[in-house]
Amino acid sequence: MTTEQDKIQAAAEQGAQGGAEENGTDNLLVVKNLVKYFPIKSGFLRRTVGNVRAVDGISFSIPRGTTMGLVGESGCGKSTAGRTILRLQDKTSGEVYFDGVDIFSLSKKELRKMRPKVQIIFQDPYSSLSPRLPIGEIIGEAVREHKVVPPEEHDAYVTRIMHACGLEEYHKDRYPHEFSGGQRQRICIARALALNPDFILCDEPVSALDVSIQAQIINQLRELQKEFNLTYLFISHDLSVVEHISDSVGVMYLGNLVETGPTDKIYSRPLHPNTKALFSAVPVPDPDYQMDRIVLEGSIPSPANPPSGCKFHTRCKDCMEICRYCAPATKEVEEGHFCACHLYNTVDENVAYEAEAKRIAEEQRQAKEAYDAMTPFQRKMDGVKKYFASLGASIKGLFSKKKD
Ligand SMILES: Nc1ncnc2c1ncn2[C@@H]1O[C@H](COP(=O)(O)OP(=O)(O)OP(=O)(O)O)[C@@H](O)[C@H]1O
Ligand code: SF4
Ligand SMILES: [Mg+2]
Repeated sequence: MTTEQDKIQAAAEQGAQGGAEENGTDNLLVVKNLVKYFPIKSGFLRRTVGNVRAVDGISFSIPRGTTMGLVGESGCGKSTAGRTILRLQDKTSGEVYFDGVDIFSLSKKELRKMRPKVQIIFQDPYSSLSPRLPIGEIIGEAVREHKVVPPEEHDAYVTRIMHACGLEEYHKDRYPHEFSGGQRQRICIARALALNPDFILCDEPVSALDVSIQAQIINQLRELQKEFNLTYLFISHDLSVVEHISDSVGVMYLGNLVETGPTDKIYSRPLHPNTKALFSAVPVPDPDYQMDRIVLEGSIPSPANPPSGCKFHTRCKDCMEICRYCAPATKEVEEGHFCACHLYNTVDENVAYEAEAKRIAEEQRQAKEAYDAMTPFQRKMDGVKKYFASLGASIKGLFSKKKD
C-alpha cells in the first residue's frame, strides 16, 4: 500500500534530481541519488550491526568547464561523496554518469582506460607524493604508462605542464622534501594535469597552505580551467575560497545535500538554516561590520544513528513539529536554487506532512506502549529473537559472498 510518506518520499527524490535530470552533453558529471554506507561489524562472525550513512542519497550535475563547490561541517560526507563518484570505492546504490557513461557499469579494463580523464588532488600534497622519486618522474610516470604523448615528445610535454603549473624545468631532478607546501601542491596539480583530464576532484586542495599561497594556487586552478576546459568538484571548509572559485555550490549535512544552486544566489540568499549558520561565520573584511553569527548548538550527530525526519532538526532554531517526523523534499525555491527544508512548503504540502507526522507519532506511541507492557522476561526473549535474526542474516551473507 502506498502511504502518504511514500508519496512525499517520491516527491523528495524527484525534487532532489531536479538539478541532474539530463545526461545531456552539457553536463560532464551527473550524480543521481548516490548512497554510500559503511557497515559496522561486530562479534566473531563480523555481524553487520548497523551502517555509517556517510552519503545518503545525493543528486547533482556539473556542466562541462565549470566548478561546483561542496561545503559542509566536518564529517558530513564530502570526501566520501567525492571518492565514490570517482569509483575509488564501491557505492551502496545510485548512479554516476561521466560524459554520459555510467561509471559503475564499466569493466575493470574500461575503468582503467577512463582513469586519466578523472583526476584527484588531495589536501596533503606531501603524503601523496612518493619521497623516493624526483619530480620529473612523479609527473612523467603516468604520462608514459598511459601513452599520453609519443616517447620522443615526453620530456618537452612534462616541461610544458610544469611551466603551466608555475614550476621550472630544473625542478625535475629534485625530490618532494626539497619543496615548500605551495610548490608541492603545484606538483600534485601538474601530475593530475599531465594526464590531460576532463575532470578534477579537488579535496581541500589549499587547506594546508597559508593564505597568500592559497590565493596563488586558486588562481592557478582557475587559469588552468580556462586553458584546458577543466571541470572541477571543489571540496572545502573555506566558504570564501569556494565563493571565489565556484560557479555552483552544494551544501551537505549528514550525508544529504540540503541546498544547491548558483554561487551568487546561494551567497546572496542562503535558504536552509544550516547554510545560514555556516555563512554567518564567514569573516567580513570591514572593521565597522557587525557580525550576526548564528551559533549551532551541539556537534553534528552520528551518521550511524541520524535523527529522524529532517536530520538537522536537533540543531535547528526554526524546527517545527513536522520536522521531527518527516524528511523534507528538495524543492526548487527560485530558478536553479534547490533547498530541502519545510520552511518552503506550500499550504497543501504542510497539510500532507502534518497528517503524516500525526500517523508516525501515533505508531511510535503504540510501539512504546506495547514495549512498556512487556515483562522483563518477554523483553529479554525479544532481544534474543532479534539477535538470532541478525545472526542468520550474517551467516547467509557469508555464504552468498563465498558463492560470488
Ligand atoms: N572507510 C570508512 N569506514 C567507516 N566510516 C567511514 C569511512 N570513511 C568515512 N567514514 C565516515 O563517514 C563520515 C563522512 O566522512 P567524510 O570523510 O566523507 O567527511 P568529510 O565531510 O569529508 O569530513 P572532513 O571535512 O573532516 O574531511 C564520517 O562519519 C566518517 O567517520
Ligand atoms: S526542515 Fe525544519 S528542522 Fe529542518 S532545517 Fe527546515 S525548519 Fe529546520
Ligand atoms: Mg574530507
